[in-house]
Amino acid sequence: MNGQKTIFITGTSSGLGKLTAKYFAENGWNVAATMRTPEKETELTAYDNIRIFKLDVTDTTQVKIAAEQAIEAFGKIDVVVNNAGMGTYGALELAKEEDIDWQFAVNTRGPINVIRGFLPHFRANGGGMFINISSFMGITTAVPLGSLYNMSKFALEGLIEGLYYELKPLNIELRLIEQGGSKGNSFRESIVWNEHPEITAYDELTNKLQSIMAGADESQLDDPMEIVNVIHGLATGENKSFRNVIGATGNQLMEMRKSMPIEDYMSAMQSFF
Ligand SMILES: NC(=O)c1ccc[n+]([C@@H]2O[C@H](COP(=O)([O-])OP(=O)(O)OC[C@H]3O[C@@H](n4cnc5c(N)ncnc54)[C@H](OP(=O)(O)O)[C@@H]3O)[C@@H](O)[C@H]2O)c1
Repeated sequence: MNGQKTIFITGTSSGLGKLTAKYFAENGWNVAATMRTPEKETELTAYDNIRIFKLDVTDTTQVKIAAEQAIEAFGKIDVVVNNAGMGTYGALELAKEEDIDWQFAVNTRGPINVIRGFLPHFRANGGGMFINISSFMGITTAVPLGSLYNMSKFALEGLIEGLYYELKPLNIELRLIEQGGSKGNSFRESIVWNEHPEITAYDELTNKLQSIMAGADESQLDDPMEIVNVIHGLATGENKSFRNVIGATGNQLMEMRKSMPIEDYMSAMQSFF
């Protein structure tokens, strides 16, 4: 359509996805901003170079349609950001079957769906890039009662690292961002908690984690613009790092994790709770 590059982003109704969409639009990119409820969007609609498409990443038919619509609107997609995600926390024993499946469906199957949706286009173009928003919870454990979220992001990390070998020969690049908690998003409010009225064995740990999360001071969280800048550096090719751990918490945990045996690391983590 024109000489501008185009980025396709999932989960742009709030937080990092919305900020990324705005930043790229303000820096000369075309943006295909996708979300589950476009009818509610009022901010991204103000940008001439942002087009909004409906997309629930768990729905392969919607992925197909959103990819076709974005390609038709902009001619070519250069970069796809798998940003949509949510957290399911609480004891595994208490989780509802559908919540276990949903955690995997959004955070892991979602990126699989989106990657598969764009591979034909990237192959036809002779290349492209997938930037995947993971978490430090994708490369290390850090809190109790986060096993399902850990599972979804560890699986995402394995998927993306494993894909490198088949996509590199096709000039299709893969990148991972391991972010910690950042300011100004809806992540904490949208957490699904595993609970059961009759099982109290996990109550103490659950109450402790919930009060730590509720009491987390926004000022101690990372600046999301730091993450947006890394996404921009990856998209433009200035930064070629495969894994990008962002933020004080994630980097401290990774240092700690590398400096001691896993048994010592887990025991140290447990002592905080
Ligand atoms: N904030 C943190 O503490 C933190 C830490 C590490 C990693 N991350 C990761 O960072 C990414 C961005 O999250 P955020 O911090 O910006 O939180 P956020 O404000 O909650 O954003 C998550 C986005 O994902 C969307 N989403 C959820 N389920 C979806 C689905 N099935 N299909 C399409 N979109 C869906 C949400 O849209 P709806 O409005 O429709 O729900 C929302 O736009 C996520 O992958 C998250 O796992 C976050």
